[in-house]
Amino acid sequence: MKNKEEGLRSRNWFGRTGKDGFIYRAWMKGQGIPADEFDGKPIIGICNTWSELTPCNAHFRELAESVKRGVIAAGGLPVEFPVMSLGETLMKPTAMLYRNLASMDVEESIRANPLDGVVLLCGCDKTTPALLMGACSVDLPTIVVSGGPMLTGKYQGRDIGTSDIWRFSEANRAGSMLQEELLMAEACMCRSRGHCAVMGTASTMASMVEALGLSLPENAAIPAADSRRKVLAELSGRRIVGLVKEDIRLSQILSPQAFENAIIVNAAIGGSTNFIIHLLAIAGRIGVPLALEDFEKIATGVPLIVNLQPSGQFFMEDLYYAGGIPAVMKILSPRLNKELLTVNGKTVEDNMKNTISYNSEVISSLEEPINPQSGIWVLKGNICSDGAVIKPSAATPRLMVHRGPAVVFENIEDYKARIDDPLLHVEEHSVLVLKNVGPKGYPGMPEVGNMSIPKKLLDRGVTDMVRISDGRMSGTAFGTVILHVSPEAAVGGTLAVIKDGDMILLDVPNRRLEVELTTAELNERKKALVFADMHQRGYTHLYQKHVQQAHLGADFDFLRGCSGSEVGRDSH
Ligand code: FES
Ligand code: MG
Repeated sequence: MKNKEEGLRSRNWFGRTGKDGFIYRAWMKGQGIPADEFDGKPIIGICNTWSELTPCNAHFRELAESVKRGVIAAGGLPVEFPVMSLGETLMKPTAMLYRNLASMDVEESIRANPLDGVVLLCGCDKTTPALLMGACSVDLPTIVVSGGPMLTGKYQGRDIGTSDIWRFSEANRAGSMLQEELLMAEACMCRSRGHCAVMGTASTMASMVEALGLSLPENAAIPAADSRRKVLAELSGRRIVGLVKEDIRLSQILSPQAFENAIIVNAAIGGSTNFIIHLLAIAGRIGVPLALEDFEKIATGVPLIVNLQPSGQFFMEDLYYAGGIPAVMKILSPRLNKELLTVNGKTVEDNMKNTISYNSEVISSLEEPINPQSGIWVLKGNICSDGAVIKPSAATPRLMVHRGPAVVFENIEDYKARIDDPLLHVEEHSVLVLKNVGPKGYPGMPEVGNMSIPKKLLDRGVTDMVRISDGRMSGTAFGTVILHVSPEAAVGGTLAVIKDGDMILLDVPNRRLEVELTTAELNERKKALVFADMHQRGYTHLYQKHVQQAHLGADFDFLRGCSGSEVGRDSH
């Protein structure tokens, strides 16, 4: 147990005498904090991604108040601080461009300030990985509190969620849903505070956090509007003080075995393909070796047991009422590392042992799964020598082995200009190829990989096609979509030289993705490649210069690893 004599980190600020102590304390006292608050209480930072430009996190000031109550009750001093917030829906060209920037903000804010422990308030997609990446590079005692999912949307007597956006927009393009109906649906979908209610990236990230042992049990699924979300926040505030006293840091929770648990849980819940990119980046920060291939190896044989959109039918609210992630982990327990310590001081086993699935339609058994195929599979071949990914539970089974001619879009503008052109030379068996939407190419690797079905095929009732890109897709999306092709087109990957009519071979059972061209032909074409100019100033310049490829988590090369929490010098 730590006490003030043994030296909390914050004592290097507030425990000082003379000029330095005066300066460190005086301005804090200016906020109306009594003198004895600085007598050795653990100082708990509440890292808040509240922003009205991040609607999924717009309730976080209130959530922070609950955390504060818990910190105070346990004898700590809470201090809330803002970091860059990343709103998935509003930020252009993509929130992903700024994940690494936000992670730098978080890392430096935590290290530079007199904090003994941190509560990370995360919600919308990129806020969770950004905050965790930054926190891992400092490695203080840390707990995550997620904002929780929205209540299920209700439209014309049925349940809807973010995955319906893709269905509705296709219906609108096909003429079966009018603009007025779209407007009505749009008003019916986001019924409450919280993030997307399907198993999109935000829910995936919240589930990841819980599976890693970085939150209190049930963190992932309690709806944002449910009073128990606030209870969880307050209890997390209490617990972070204990975690500081016990000096349990992120690196003690984030063992390689914890990463294995997260990968197994992600497969079982049908988590987003973005899980791979973010977990790779987090592993890189905390120093756990993890490769793209591990995602499939570790989850081999894990079926889909959670029936949530986009792979299934239901919503996060249903998952919570059915028992949440603890019930999922209980069913997966033969596969999990159960002895691991989690942030509440208990083991994985302790946290799940008293739970059951209350609804087998939502959380099934291993014996009768929702889908025997699950997880995220890694493809290799001459198109993707460093890998590409596909989410089989969201794909069409008959397209998993497919040979067809490429219809190539050189970039996003080319795609947007021609996808609905009645003269576009495309058939149902064509393979849509989109280039230059990777980390360096776009830049920022946006969620555009689930290209729309060309209008003329949509009119014929085609609902899925093989689509390939170096981009990502929303965790809420679905289809036979091959993503994260690495190396990307913008760095001279094979994708860059694929032309209209080249035959593409997809063989998911054998994990192959090939273009039927010889190495000599590919090399010849690559010689003629001309690369687009990179940005010359600002953050985008830094990003394009230092971002790593998708199979390495798209983190900056210079951000891998941890610099610890020590700061040697004072401010004055
Ligand atoms: Fe924020 Fe979906 S837009 S979670
Ligand atoms: Mg998204």
